[in-house]
Amino acid sequence: MNQDVIQEIRNKVDIVDVVSSYIPLTKQGKNFFGVCPFHDDTNPSMSVSREKQIFRCFSCGASGNVFHFVERYEQISFREALKLLADRAGVPLTGFSVSQKPNKYEKFYEIYDLTNKFYQNNLLSSYGKEARNYLKNRNIEEDLIKEFGIGLSTGISNQLTNLLEKRGYLISDLNAIGLSAGEKDIYQDRIMFPLWDPSGKCVAFSGRRYKNEEGSKYINTKETKIFVKGNTLYNYHRAREFVRLKKQVIVMEGFMDVIRSYTADVKNVVALMGTAMTSEQIQLLKRLSMDVVLCFDGDDAGIHATQVNGEALEKQGFRLKVVELPSPEDPDSYILKYGKESFQTLVEQAITFQDFKIKRLKLGRNLNSDEEKAAYVHDVLQETSKISDEIRREIILKNLAIEFNLSYNTLEKGLQELLTKVPKESPHVKIPSKRQAQDKYYVAPRAVLYYLMVNNDVLAYYNRQGIFFPNEVFRTFASEVTYAHQKYGISSVADFYTYLSDKKELLSLLEEIIALDLEDSVTKEVIFDYIRVMEEDYKNQEIRRLKELIKNTSDLNEKMRLSEKVRSLKIGS
Ligand code: GTP
Ligand code: MN
Repeated sequence: MNQDVIQEIRNKVDIVDVVSSYIPLTKQGKNFFGVCPFHDDTNPSMSVSREKQIFRCFSCGASGNVFHFVERYEQISFREALKLLADRAGVPLTGFSVSQKPNKYEKFYEIYDLTNKFYQNNLLSSYGKEARNYLKNRNIEEDLIKEFGIGLSTGISNQLTNLLEKRGYLISDLNAIGLSAGEKDIYQDRIMFPLWDPSGKCVAFSGRRYKNEEGSKYINTKETKIFVKGNTLYNYHRAREFVRLKKQVIVMEGFMDVIRSYTADVKNVVALMGTAMTSEQIQLLKRLSMDVVLCFDGDDAGIHATQVNGEALEKQGFRLKVVELPSPEDPDSYILKYGKESFQTLVEQAITFQDFKIKRLKLGRNLNSDEEKAAYVHDVLQETSKISDEIRREIILKNLAIEFNLSYNTLEKGLQELLTKVPKESPHVKIPSKRQAQDKYYVAPRAVLYYLMVNNDVLAYYNRQGIFFPNEVFRTFASEVTYAHQKYGISSVADFYTYLSDKKELLSLLEEIIALDLEDSVTKEVIFDYIRVMEEDYKNQEIRRLKELIKNTSDLNEKMRLSEKVRSLKIGS
């Protein structure tokens, strides 16, 4: 691959823009910070540098340039990442093909794509009349049907299986991916809702009964190589751009709720599809936004789900709000009954999860009993102590004082006690102290290599005088730097990441170097200090080596000769 093109593309995109199109970033000082998507985390441990055009996670150590980020996030190859960013930068890649090795499951995606089209056609055919009526009665109009790819499986028991078999697909494959059982279709006479993976490929279906109440309401595709229900959030791939605009993601229980929300122009929505939230789904949410609005059904089950899932999300550091629907409505029925404006207002007026919990504390309690009243007040204080906003805490205490005719001071005292008991974590990014526990011998050679990459004076000095590095890997690294500079004009860390990407040992050294988080500007004196430290380190190594030799030789003359060498090395220091 042509290095010039790679560098051109890298220069035309800004890593901060690209990363922030995937995860929310906040500026702090020179750098931007966000929650690292590459490990399970709640703190903003990932820093992105506009100046250096690289990212780095303090916690898991992931680092690299914009290509690495996109490769890892999208789980695609370097060439695919290059293509994606080239498109973004408007750089044409001529004679460039990304399809190197076909995806293992390409065939399965193909089958699903075909099946999806087949179902969509059925809905439009004469057979689909009753289904179309059903959808019409549910106020699902044509634009929604199109947008969500809704289709229909017919009552002919082997129609799909036959069709796919004629197209050359194996029955065993159709069984494996949950479309057929033996020679028969799994889905018969149901309204078909395609389910997509995070990249937007159709990988499963949910089929709804529509003629009578026989059988289960929905049938979902079984778990397959390409579909795991617990790893799926309905509408994830399309919600992404709207979440970016609204800076929050709304989570609902059912996909019908999501579809209905679109009619109210609320599109930053995903659905769980009737499961308790899994840790994989939480990871997916993190990729969307740390601001989550729970909008579950207004019945007891929905309230329970809000409580349970809310706790799980709160532990993971999400900022949480709750939309309270009147029982027994779900978002779908609410919008139909009260209209879209009413629903939009409800979403805007979502309460915080803490307020939701405080409200819930009252339920099932007999507040005429002094004992239960005290217990309730205590629970409220407990919840209030978790709120970081002082003003909101004060408001809650004031209301509580009025409601139960208690003195504000008593409540305040109780709260303070709880607050000192649980030390609050600072919301600020904790940047590990620089060079922590790393001794000077560790830092020096890495620092010199860093400046060799970014500072032309240091590079010129190296080319003129040479700098002796105390081990082979450092020496190879240094010579790669000069080579890449001469041959490709590479003189930025971000480009070295790509240049070194297939040299494992050098790449991990580069990561160690970047982890030092050095300033780009540097004085000659500092460089010479580093070089001195390296020489000292080398000398110490030599002395240790010679002493080892002395210990292991029985030849007295040789012992003398080696001792002399040790002495002269020591004097030289
Ligand atoms: P409608 O009744 O069509 O309005 O659906 P809903 O969105 O109101 O569904 P509900 O609230 O009953 O359930 C929420 C989610 O749970 C649905 O989106 C489905 O994914 C799932 N679900 C509901 N019923 C069934 C079922 O009988 N079988 C399976 N496998 N999943 C179901
Ligand atoms: Mn419903």
